[in-house]
Amino acid sequence: MGFILAAVGSAVGLGNIWRFPWVTAENGGSAFLLVYLAIVVLVGVPGILGEFVIGRRSGRNPVGALRELSGSRTWGLVGMLSVLTGVALLSFYSVVGGWILRYFVESLVALGTAGPAPYFADPGSYYDGIAFTTDAVLYHVAFLVLTALIVFAGIRRGIEIGTKVMMPAILLLLVGLAVWASQQPNAAAGYEFYLSFDLATLRANFFDVLGPAAGQALFTLSLGAGTMVTYASYIGDDRSLPFDATTIAVLNTFVGVLAGLVVFPLLFSVTGEAGSSGPGALFVSIAGAFARLPAGTLIATAFFGVVTLAALSSSISMLEIPVSFLVDEFEFSRPVAVGGVAGLVVVTGSVNALRPALFGFVAGPLVDSLLTIGLIVFLLFVGWVLGVDAVDEFRRGSGSLANTLSTPWLLAVGVAIPFFLVFTLLSSLGLGGI
Ligand code: PHE
Ligand code: NA
Repeated sequence: MGFILAAVGSAVGLGNIWRFPWVTAENGGSAFLLVYLAIVVLVGVPGILGEFVIGRRSGRNPVGALRELSGSRTWGLVGMLSVLTGVALLSFYSVVGGWILRYFVESLVALGTAGPAPYFADPGSYYDGIAFTTDAVLYHVAFLVLTALIVFAGIRRGIEIGTKVMMPAILLLLVGLAVWASQQPNAAAGYEFYLSFDLATLRANFFDVLGPAAGQALFTLSLGAGTMVTYASYIGDDRSLPFDATTIAVLNTFVGVLAGLVVFPLLFSVTGEAGSSGPGALFVSIAGAFARLPAGTLIATAFFGVVTLAALSSSISMLEIPVSFLVDEFEFSRPVAVGGVAGLVVVTGSVNALRPALFGFVAGPLVDSLLTIGLIVFLLFVGWVLGVDAVDEFRRGSGSLANTLSTPWLLAVGVAIPFFLVFTLLSSLGLGGI
């Protein structure tokens, strides 16, 4: 149970509430949504299972896992990509977590008196709603310190409590907000953009949205960074991996789609469009709308408080990757490892917090590519190094349906999905005329 909570806590985060609406808006709305959902089912679920199999089989962090299971140091070196990915992820995630934390801390004051306007960096610009200022640096550091404290204290209890509060609270708040958003002027245009799917648009945009859709699917499911490998090292042999992977994907997708039902109607009612809303979308729509709500201050505080929890249960899973690597492989003490990695991210994150262009690159293409490459590595490992052992692990603790699915699954993760991911990677890098 602790494991499932931790994995759901890692998956559900800013990827669902902040990144999903923004990336969906930038890629044309409904056509993107459909491709994204298909990738979650066809790549996401089998992909989670790949990381689970590696983690439970080895009982280790990604570096140790690849080395032990293959008996070769070279695979251990390949696994170190995860460490880099963890640091890159946290370097921008902590900045966004900082913006959220700032809205949480200051919404009581600001929304009650001044409205959300003081937060809007440069109204109408791409980064409307967020600010690349020294305040952003301060809140980034504060968010990182919170993350480090939880990881330092031993993450198990923290995650369990956090997730038990966060999941019901976030569902309740999002449902309430979605109902309220549906009553706002121009909400219909938001639904239209988000949900009205037509084949012609899909066909015209298919190859353009493939890369971003795959990137978003991996990001939101915490895939390709080794998080699921690490967490799965704690799964008992009696649990069904396919069942757990599906549960995580369903819950995570539900929160994402629901967040869209809040953000899009509000975006269209506040700004009249979604296309150029960018990373500030959540802040513009939600904070702007809260200011108009009766008891908006209170709801804003509750909302940003819950989102802060969701962000923390994800950021600790990012920090845990390099920390468990340093502790397991080099026998660092936990405090030193946490302090060292957090110290590094104070610097890298602060640069992101001040440089919009760099931030945009790290939060988008860089992280997308790292996660894609990471997942390709894990899945090729499952297919070509573990092979039948992977099938064995896949079946352990699950029923007859899993037995039937295990062989097709191995083919998918060993061949089809890596091919597909290489293709999306090349197309998002703009290579090969794709
Ligand atoms: N899945 C998390 C979210 O949606 C982000 C994440 C990515 C966490 C990769 C860990 C590893 O916010
Ligand atoms: Na997510």
